[in-house]
Amino acid sequence: MRGAMHPRHASPRSRVLTIALPIGLAVTALGAMWAMTEVTPTADAVAPPLPAVAAQLPSVEFASVAPADPCGEPAVVDALAAGDDEAVIAAFGGGADFRDAIVAGSAPCISLADPARRWVVVNKTHPLAPEDYEPSQMTEAPVQTTTASRLIRTDTAAALGDMAEALNASGSGVLGMNNAYRSYGLQVSNYSGQVSAAGQAEADLGSARPGFSEHQTGLAVDVVACDSGCGGIDAFGATAESEWVAAHAWEYGFIVRYEADATGTTGYEPEPWHLRYVGPELASAYHEGGYHTLEEFFALPAAPDYAH
Ligand code: DAL
Ligand code: ZN
Repeated sequence: MRGAMHPRHASPRSRVLTIALPIGLAVTALGAMWAMTEVTPTADAVAPPLPAVAAQLPSVEFASVAPADPCGEPAVVDALAAGDDEAVIAAFGGGADFRDAIVAGSAPCISLADPARRWVVVNKTHPLAPEDYEPSQMTEAPVQTTTASRLIRTDTAAALGDMAEALNASGSGVLGMNNAYRSYGLQVSNYSGQVSAAGQAEADLGSARPGFSEHQTGLAVDVVACDSGCGGIDAFGATAESEWVAAHAWEYGFIVRYEADATGTTGYEPEPWHLRYVGPELASAYHEGGYHTLEEFFALPAAPDYAH
């Protein structure tokens, strides 16, 4: 099981805590000793001996804290050049530190608009650029597929295969796929079909306009339940597979992108079947941080509507 084997190593923050705790205790003890020496407090005397203690901090341990200028770190530069997104995030200190750096504006080398990266944000205000972007590394999905379009990004396919295997082993059924990668052209026909069937306002709540769909990155997957024949996406929410996916998809690097009660942020009605691959580092940070939309995660404005 991929998720179970994912190492839960100590984060830089927990390493700092490991150091800070004994130091904190020492400072507290020093403070207590100081307090017991009946010195009349003056402005100078009340200053605690923190600088002297801080000077003794083991510098080697503090080197493991998230770098102040992550984009200047050779490990980040090299991993970005190699296209190794997980290594980039690890070099930032992990998913939470990566997010924090982006939100703080201290990661100018990271573009949330790069459609080839696991951290790309595509929504109604962040279209694909270029509009006709095509992923370079694609393969056929490793699960039963219910549409003619079987392509999916290679890394997403591997994670989907692992997740489907774990879901099946847990006794929660069989996971299949409706569709993952959709070209710009395929999104044109999907969206126009929805508009013809339900009108534009309704279509915009369930289908992205061409050039605005995560499916065009190859990182999004619409999953279905395939117990005795595969169901459709609309039936997925009521299945045991959906319950398992909602609880465990993050362990395989996926987030449920359009959750219930998030329409005001995402612009889409709930889609428990639409999974977005962000990789294990970001999915862990997303899950552990209790986020429900990628917009919140990266502190971006809500994107319920198109600009025009
Ligand atoms: N159904 C999602 C929003 C899409 O079309 O990308
Ligand atoms: Zn989808």
